[in-house]
Amino acid sequence: MPRKALYPISNIFINRWSSRAMSDQPVTNEQLMTLFEAARWAPSGYNEQPWRFIYTYKNTKLWNELIALMIPFNQSWAKNSAVLVVIISKNFFDRTGKPSHLHTFDAGAAWMSLALQGSISGLVIHAIGDFDYDAAKTILDIPDEFKIEVMVAIGNKGKKEILAPELQAREVPNDRKPLSEIVFENKFKE
Ligand SMILES: Cc1cc2nc3c(=O)[nH]c(=O)nc-3n(C[C@H](O)[C@H](O)[C@H](O)COP(=O)(O)O)c2cc1C
Repeated sequence: MPRKALYPISNIFINRWSSRAMSDQPVTNEQLMTLFEAARWAPSGYNEQPWRFIYTYKNTKLWNELIALMIPFNQSWAKNSAVLVVIISKNFFDRTGKPSHLHTFDAGAAWMSLALQGSISGLVIHAIGDFDYDAAKTILDIPDEFKIEVMVAIGNKGKKEILAPELQAREVPNDRKPLSEIVFENKFKE
């Protein structure tokens, strides 16, 4: 069932969705940098831009190592990705040297910009949160002042038939909670 917006929003918001079907066509450096360029323009607290992106192409040692960190469910489809990106964010403000309470929120904004640009560019962009974060920190040499936020699988759109039958059934955009459940006038409501 196609997604239906309840108010007149731009289609970019409902056209983006997290497919798992990726082809074996490579993602070019130009395509990839276009995604990071979109992410770069995200807003952040004090314009600190705490996000960092570590990427690796398929058929490299690091790509294989990152796939191995995922739970088997994620491995089963992310093994078709052309690129894996790990998004991290700095948990200290550069301007004060004090702990930041905003870095994860800011990184989320950058992720969304990347995802929307990917959708506009016709790519599959799929976030992955179920992997071994501690092992990723070690493999990627991430210093303590950075938090690993998420991994992102990127590829060109593929045929859903390459996926296991149970995943093929999930190759449809999902829905959202109604506004009444997430928006409150004045006070919070359960
Ligand atoms: C931070 C984050 C982590 C996610 N982790 C996973 C994951 O580990 N495996 C997976 O298959 N999908 C994962 N997803 C995809 C979500 O399930 C998906 O975004 C959600 O169901 C909404 O669907 P949509 O992106 O198609 O609109 C993740 C998404 C986000 C934003």
